[in-house]
Amino acid sequence: MEVIICPDEEQVGVIGAAKVAQIARQAGPGVVLGVATGSSPLATYRHLAALLEAGKLDLSQATVFALDEYVGLPLDHPESYHETIRRTVTVPLGIDPERVHVPDGSIGDLATAGQRYEDAIAAAGGVDVQILGIGANGHIGFNEPTSSLASRTRVKTLSAKTIADNTRFFAGEEEVPTLCITQGIGTILEARHAVLVATGAHKAAAIAAIVEGPVTSMWPGSALQLHQHATIVVDETAAEQLTMADYYKRVFAGLPDWQRLDI
Ligand code: F6R
Repeated sequence: MEVIICPDEEQVGVIGAAKVAQIARQAGPGVVLGVATGSSPLATYRHLAALLEAGKLDLSQATVFALDEYVGLPLDHPESYHETIRRTVTVPLGIDPERVHVPDGSIGDLATAGQRYEDAIAAAGGVDVQILGIGANGHIGFNEPTSSLASRTRVKTLSAKTIADNTRFFAGEEEVPTLCITQGIGTILEARHAVLVATGAHKAAAIAAIVEGPVTSMWPGSALQLHQHATIVVDETAAEQLTMADYYKRVFAGLPDWQRLDI
């Protein structure tokens, strides 16, 4: 794992965007981006938009796959992930909406929705770079603790912790859907690169567990230790329980020129 510790949330966005842009340039114009919703990647999306604006990145031919969706919310509900991705990714990054995919959380098609999503990812040639956040309970996508590390896109039940954490987006806890459809951990691990961004002290325990703890389904993000190209970008507060923080800083400061980010 590559761990990059930044002074603050804004720098997490700068570094997150630079890392994604570096991989996207290597992948070429038809890059396939995996995207997350939630608060964590918003600064990264803003800085990606700035790179586009500056002519330093081209995503006009990019294809996008979201990680997850709530089950049962109308597509145009402001908190559906269809709508959230449209607002935070598709529009600001100028991606062709025809090439933006979000799992289908409509009640009618749930039995086949997971396999259809896996097929669409495969048809696009797989994900080049998956942007991830992390839940305070260690979930990636909506793979809650005890999710199989080999899991594929499927319907999951949200944990009480995730429902409580996501209540801030809704009028009240009873309005938060209890079911979701999410890429599995096995699906996420097949992305060619993974870039996870996290900020704030409430993420510190999860970051320490997934970076320095054992690989365990109790901390689903720890599966990224099995990924060949996983980068974790955190601010100082999310890094505060890492025992090897000084080492990660020395590694990043000493990167050879060819691995340095263009920032
Ligand atoms: C969102 C997702 C989740 C979030 C996580 C952190 O698509 O898959 O894993 O990344 O819940 O959410 P925030 O960033 O809002 O703290």
